[in-house]
Amino acid sequence: MARQKLLYVVGARPNFVKMAPVVAELQRRLPDAEHVVVHTEQHYDPELSEIFIDQLGLPEPEFRLDVGSGSHAQQTARAMERLEEVVIADPPDLAFVPGDVNTTLAAALVLVKLGVPYAHVESGLRSFDRSMPEEINRIVADEFAEYLFAHSEDAVANLRKEGIEPERIHLVGNTMIDTLCRLEPLFRPLHVAAGVRLPPLGIVLVTLHRPALVDGALLPTVLEQLQTVAERTPVVFPVHPRTRARIAAPERYPDVRLLPPLGYLEFLSLEADAAAVLTDSGGVQEETTFLGVPCFTLRAVTERPVTTRLGTNVVLGLDPARIPEIADAIGADRREHRIPPLWDGRASERIADVVVERL
Ligand code: UD1
Ligand code: UDP
Repeated sequence: MARQKLLYVVGARPNFVKMAPVVAELQRRLPDAEHVVVHTEQHYDPELSEIFIDQLGLPEPEFRLDVGSGSHAQQTARAMERLEEVVIADPPDLAFVPGDVNTTLAAALVLVKLGVPYAHVESGLRSFDRSMPEEINRIVADEFAEYLFAHSEDAVANLRKEGIEPERIHLVGNTMIDTLCRLEPLFRPLHVAAGVRLPPLGIVLVTLHRPALVDGALLPTVLEQLQTVAERTPVVFPVHPRTRARIAAPERYPDVRLLPPLGYLEFLSLEADAAAVLTDSGGVQEETTFLGVPCFTLRAVTERPVTTRLGTNVVLGLDPARIPEIADAIGADRREHRIPPLWDGRASERIADVVVERL
């Protein structure tokens, strides 16, 4: 009998965090199968790509597709053309596609058209805002997936409302949290803030990269507000390259520590020790909920409502004028919060339970 083959498609920073534990668990459960990682290289700078492969222990990608940056159509089309060749040359029995980036969309379309079943990891999230590219990518990835792996009841409810058959939907928990739990013994002792002479438990950590915030006129106002916060509390901002390209005059914000994007372990060390986090990242909203760190989301909506209902997340709106509220929250009594069900480090095991039985 031919060896079973599983294909894992990744391309951007959050994909590595979501996929690494899935690959590791399936390698453990199916040692005789072939496990092939394809990296579209939608993200290609080492600090958004290689450092994650190394720190997370993702197997070296067998295929690198050199897709790079471009418009949505260019990026998606390049990923589709190049992934299609890989899949046609040796079709897998099952593929895994994570999250909601353009790589996710490209992979879903290629796989469904070639008749290759795939699993969507982090299925069912909805912002109900179709001006967000991620919303389009998620809807398409969910529509055609054979297995829809959801991380919360909210996500399951969204899928059911869209009429997706219950047999395809599996509530398994959050694979990003699997990665966090596995690497916690490595990042906890780092105390990166203390190492660069910042108060060990007192910083405001910032990540912002959504087009709605950084591509338009709001970014200078955000930075001015952060400068005001930074005059009282240290503000550390590892800057995504999309955002970096749009910060015209960094010298206007002398107290905001603008850093390059950080590796996972260094970033998680800062996140775990932070007094508060300001973000528009999806993954960071989830990690802070798990870590119990106050999180302020500078977006109109979140597709992760469980982080506001149970967790530590407060959605500020797309409103930089509310940034000073972060400073007020520091030192205040922390709100009651709970870790969402099944965010326990074992989501990948549940994914493997489902697919191994059916393969
Ligand atoms: C992408 C995802 C977004 C996700 C984010 C995670 C889409 C539509 N967006 O946004 O959902 O939250 O990744 O980080 O897929 N660039 C570099 N080096 C790189 C990669 C990008 O300099 O390695 C710069 C380029 O100027 C590029 C810009 O960043 O044009 C944006 O990159 P892109 O992949 O299009 O989208 P992100 O903003 O990274
Ligand atoms: N992250 C990181 N270094 C950074 C910023 C983020 O390691 O400088 C991690 C973060 O902890 C999370 C993931 O990258 O695990 C989230 O990726 P990103 O914010 O780029 O994407 P999103 O989650 O918004 O799609």
